[in-house]
Amino acid sequence: MNLTYSTKLSAIPRDIVCLDDYQRHAKLHLAEAIYEYIASGAGDDITMRRNQLRFQDIALYSRVLKDFDGASTGIHLLGRDYPTPIILAPIAYQRLVHPDGEKATALAADAMSTPMVTSTLASIPMNEITERNNAGNWFQLYMQSNPQNTATLIRRAEHAGYDAIVVTVDAAVSGLRNRPQRAGFSLPGEISAVNCQGFETETLTLSGGDSPVLHGIMAQAPQWRDIEWLRQQTQLPLIVKGISHPDDALQARAIGADAVVVSNHGGRTLDTLPASIDTLAAIRAAVGAEFPLLLDSGVRRGTDIVKALALGANAVMIGRPQIFALAVAGALGVAHMLRLLREELEIAMALSGCANIAAINANCLHTTERPATC
Ligand code: FNR
Ligand code: LAC
Repeated sequence: MNLTYSTKLSAIPRDIVCLDDYQRHAKLHLAEAIYEYIASGAGDDITMRRNQLRFQDIALYSRVLKDFDGASTGIHLLGRDYPTPIILAPIAYQRLVHPDGEKATALAADAMSTPMVTSTLASIPMNEITERNNAGNWFQLYMQSNPQNTATLIRRAEHAGYDAIVVTVDAAVSGLRNRPQRAGFSLPGEISAVNCQGFETETLTLSGGDSPVLHGIMAQAPQWRDIEWLRQQTQLPLIVKGISHPDDALQARAIGADAVVVSNHGGRTLDTLPASIDTLAAIRAAVGAEFPLLLDSGVRRGTDIVKALALGANAVMIGRPQIFALAVAGALGVAHMLRLLREELEIAMALSGCANIAAINANCLHTTERPATC
């Protein structure tokens, strides 16, 4: 596939007033195959759609006439203070949509004091990202089939100044992405995972005899014992991303993970999984009140953030909106997207009577109790 960038805007169009507006505009700027790679979920997009729909099904209470003296959106997470509970999720190959790729995202993260998670599959050297962003840099790790390569990535991340390792565990096999398949998506020659340069190419998909997936890929896929090994490899906080089941969250905690990201990868892995927001409360109940939990998949509104926090998340991560904003207006777009979300969060807190993050809890949510005879 060839890569051409359409003109990037140097001002934000007036009709972009919420995160989803960026998706509409990005569609106009991107080649169809690239848009489909980003916008699609797995299979029939059922989980991807559910992620947003289930947020919409949750109702908030309005609470009035509260004291907002000293109000704040600030949080304390993994030993550090952050101005909001908003984090940029790892998104691979950002140069697909903008010539500066992850460098532009890093500038926006810095301007908006928002931590950023850099993908193993970033298209920019990882140190060029930490050089531009002082607001918090986490490195997302895809375990490599050769442990030496995994260790090399961790050393490179530590050397580049990353504050935490986020190991993604829900994508042992790439999800079935029918939409980009139909649109003929393949990675353009000029885009690559530059931080994995020098690693041997992993040609696992075609081995494995009768079952290339179960005997080929899965024979080499990471297991819990590999995450235990990983825990020994670094002193940095270890965050396990891609948890949907309480038992997996408990196992991550048991082997020394510092936090878990409740996530279904934006609906891009196993289609028909529940919405991430629907798995959160049970995971919070399992791990207890103190263990840090993040949530992503479908967060598009300030009200979604309040709902996620009310159900037990300490912070949320934002996936597709950042890459759509990058496609539309580069660093300016990503910074504007983050500002919109922050303003929405403040409005949602103000109108639900929560002067700070600690005040957001299950009492913010309206539940309909139907009489048993109905
Ligand atoms: C992703 N995601 C992802 N996750 C990860 O751990 N490493 C990665 O390299 C990527 N790359 C990636 C590329 C693209 C184009 C998308 C859309 C997503 C998943 C991402 O971090 C996050 O879990 C979801 O995007 C969250 O869902 P929403 O916010 O997109 O609905
Ligand atoms: C994706 C992989 C890169 O979701 O995580 O496209």
